[in-house]
Amino acid sequence: MSDLDQLEQETLAAIEKAEDETGLEAVRVAALGKKGTISALLAGLGKMAPDERKVQGAVINALKDRVSAAFTERRVALKEAALEHRLATETLDVTLPARTSPLDLGRIHPLSQVTEEIATIFADLGFSVAEGPDIETDDYNFGKLNFPPDHPARDMHDTFFLKPDASGERKLLRTHTSPVQVRTMLNQRPPIRVICPGRAYRCDSDQTHTPMFHQVEGLVIDKQANLGHLKWTLSEFCKAFFEVADVRMRFRPSYFPFTEPSMEVDIQCSRKAGEIRFGEGEDWLEILGCGMVHPNVLRNCGLDPDAYQGFAWGIGIDRLAMLKYGMPDLRAFFDADVRWLKHYGFRPLDFPTLLAGLSS
Ligand code: DAH
Repeated sequence: MSDLDQLEQETLAAIEKAEDETGLEAVRVAALGKKGTISALLAGLGKMAPDERKVQGAVINALKDRVSAAFTERRVALKEAALEHRLATETLDVTLPARTSPLDLGRIHPLSQVTEEIATIFADLGFSVAEGPDIETDDYNFGKLNFPPDHPARDMHDTFFLKPDASGERKLLRTHTSPVQVRTMLNQRPPIRVICPGRAYRCDSDQTHTPMFHQVEGLVIDKQANLGHLKWTLSEFCKAFFEVADVRMRFRPSYFPFTEPSMEVDIQCSRKAGEIRFGEGEDWLEILGCGMVHPNVLRNCGLDPDAYQGFAWGIGIDRLAMLKYGMPDLRAFFDADVRWLKHYGFRPLDFPTLLAGLSS
């Protein structure tokens, strides 16, 4: 066998043996690449005498064509085989249930949801959200809110006091969100329309009380804000929050040092078979405290009570959540039990909006 025949046989055998496209490419480079065996033969033609070049040129080019054709054929075959292999191994069972994403597993705590619902309703009424620190001074939590020193109302609050600091001042965990009223009046000129949602702390624990709980404070200050506006605002809120067309409210005289007059508000409901419904029935349920801001509070916060007046209210968010979503024990709110959260929690992308419905 001539050298050329042998080269052809070996190259064709190597092509046949290549198991994948990478292996085949290596064989091609070894034969037809710049420094390949067949390329070397073609390069050698230049050095031959014209007659010999004519004969050898035809022979070598024919060899090159046969080898190239074999490469192409093998490449197509390997491509098809690779595709066959993928089709055979990469099967997909479209009848399997879709895998749940983390979004489906996570839940928004009912308290966060209810806080959002409240902020959404009051935003629609033109209120912005104000916040303050959980650790407060005695002055903001009590003093500026017209609690006289040693007044028994301070005891009613079961306050958690902190150790005195270097200057001897005893800070405390705020017992209500009302100090945010003080901060707002000190920092903002009227007209003021804010709600202040946040945590509050009292040393108390049973089925409807926890040492840490949530309130939302409301404050409106301008030149004319009156009791009529307060009643309208609260009744609009209750209708929107409990998602009922009408709600009857009862204003009972009460006492808070920071409002005069002060009232507690009950809303009408029916209790049947352990279920509470709003906007119907003969029962009453207390939901909040409110009143006209006391002139002393206005004065303490740098506002002239002869020029400005306003109203305020405070609601327990935890209580609102329990009532709206039928959760019987407040303590479960803070147990971090995933089963509870799965049952009562909300889907992360279900934002409460007035248009789409708050709780749907
Ligand atoms: N701060 C009161 C409490 O925690 C609730 C309250 C009552 C707030 C009347 C008010 C108000 O702003 O006007 O018991």
